[in-house]
Amino acid sequence: MAKKKSILDLYQMKENGEKAAWIVLYDSCYASYAEAAGIDMILCGDSMGMVVYGYEGTVPVTMDMSIAHCQGVRRGAPNTYLIGDLPFGSYHASTEDAVRNAMRFYKEADVDAVKLEGGVAVADKIRAITQAGMVVFGHIGLTPQSSASMGGFKAQGRTVESAKAVIEDAIAVYKAGARTLLLEGVPEEICAFVHQMLPIPVYGIGAGAQCDGQVILAADMLGMYQNFTPKFVKKYADIAGMATNGIAEYVKEVKADIFPGPEHKYKISGEQEEFNQLFEQMKPLFEK
Ligand code: KIV
Repeated sequence: MAKKKSILDLYQMKENGEKAAWIVLYDSCYASYAEAAGIDMILCGDSMGMVVYGYEGTVPVTMDMSIAHCQGVRRGAPNTYLIGDLPFGSYHASTEDAVRNAMRFYKEADVDAVKLEGGVAVADKIRAITQAGMVVFGHIGLTPQSSASMGGFKAQGRTVESAKAVIEDAIAVYKAGARTLLLEGVPEEICAFVHQMLPIPVYGIGAGAQCDGQVILAADMLGMYQNFTPKFVKKYADIAGMATNGIAEYVKEVKADIFPGPEHKYKISGEQEEFNQLFEQMKPLFEK
């Protein structure tokens, strides 16, 4: 079994030019598949709001939901670098909230780092969490928690003005002490520039290939989440199709009395006659 990575390993990978592959998932089963597949990191993301809970966005996700899912992921992938995702409202009101909630991830879900969305506007929260001894992953560009103020899930940094704001966010996150930075939904040129300028690992999701690694939602790349598929997703499997076909087959077999078959049944231990006698004895007890 591969040794669990540390933040130093992530820096070494950057140094060596080895790309990091991380994935977003929310439960112990998928976490164990990802660990067996050799994933570098798992983010237990607040996209669980849409994928697991059926909300339209990530805003309703709470700390308690995030912690419970993160605990499941940790149990499924005990040897994989795990990042907890601070949900909307858990770090915005004060630096005290930010530190307290980041600590909950460490103490209750055994994470290796926390991620939070935003740049200039949350630099004080990143600094406070970092000063408390925790590892922060920054996340800028298309930040789903603020999709309402962005007018939806829209790519950022496409105009010069917007690119300037993304780059200013990257600088603020770095200067506040974040140990890595994730850029989401920006043109490759912007991500490449930030990657070239910053000494910390810079990762992308929908930000092109010129950075230190990629993250993607398991629900998107395995074809599970059907409501919406971003342009940057490549599908590696069709779990939705397989699951629907499997369940349809099960329905058919139950109705046709094919399932359960002999191999799915427990056997009595003893003579059938003894059980017949028992049933006869018990029958009167069913009378009202
Ligand atoms: O919660 C999530 O899935 C994320 C990814 C978009 C990186 O934050």
